[in-house]
Amino acid sequence: MRTKITIVGAGNVGGTAAQRLAEKELGDIVLVDVAEGIPQGKSLDLLEAGPIYGYNVSVTGTDTYDETTGSSICVITAGRARRPGMTRTDLLAGNAKVVKSVVENLVKRSPDTILLLVTNPLDAIAYVAYKVSGFPKERVIGMAGVLDTARFSTFVAMELGVSVENVQATVIGGHSDPLPLARYTTVAGVPITELLPREKIDVLIKRTVAGGAEIVNLLKTGSAYFAPSAAITEMVTAILKDKKKILPSTVFCQGEYGLKDIFIGVPAKLGLKGVEGIIELSLTEEERGLLHKSAREVMAECAEVDRLIK
Ligand code: LAC
Repeated sequence: MRTKITIVGAGNVGGTAAQRLAEKELGDIVLVDVAEGIPQGKSLDLLEAGPIYGYNVSVTGTDTYDETTGSSICVITAGRARRPGMTRTDLLAGNAKVVKSVVENLVKRSPDTILLLVTNPLDAIAYVAYKVSGFPKERVIGMAGVLDTARFSTFVAMELGVSVENVQATVIGGHSDPLPLARYTTVAGVPITELLPREKIDVLIKRTVAGGAEIVNLLKTGSAYFAPSAAITEMVTAILKDKKKILPSTVFCQGEYGLKDIFIGVPAKLGLKGVEGIIELSLTEEERGLLHKSAREVMAECAEVDRLIK
């Protein structure tokens, strides 16, 4: 049987992810959206790009869930995106409801699938999916860290005038309050703490933390999608190709980093089983304090989720 990848939400993030995944021929794609015509139209358009671009996968658009049956992985992008002035938390009540229903529909038809959450507020929405699906924690993963890390890498490369390919950045924490780790961010193997003064690094960290809002403020009618869809593609590739690749991922921590029963961004090993391990970096007191501060925000959102999905 061919690998099936479902993407729920045919907006900018879902549509662009479908394009990137089709171009990599990672599997057949099912694009689901309640907006009748949009998933069908985007899917047909993507199919028609195949002969030119040279990929050979099926792309199906639908506003129901039957075609998703037997998916290896389901990427959930459905829900509202931010507008200027909104925080990710402002989206919680509405998007939790949407994602609850999406997850119920998916897991009925694909009980062995892996859920990759993208909808905001990301960490709390991953918790919604975990609770609603009843899946083991290994099969519920959120995409945020790869995106936040890519933003930090971009800014470091711009600042130093080097190739982004030389930058290996590390960002942990919740997506609303991410924590770029300068000590674990290197350029051709050299930590940036040896290459840039503290004040300069702080500016790059600030810009990374507000990276999503910077794009929202420029676009005005939506949020980022090129980098988010690239991040989705990297995670889906790591999983479907069983790469055992360590990527910053939003996963359920049960004691790691002193955090309990919470979804938050940490380095995780991704393979066919989903989350195949969590890597615990040794943190300074200050870094650990900042991670726990970020976690407290997520915990407050999760308490709200428990109330919302009861
Ligand atoms: C961002 C949104 C998608 O960070 O959360 O761009």
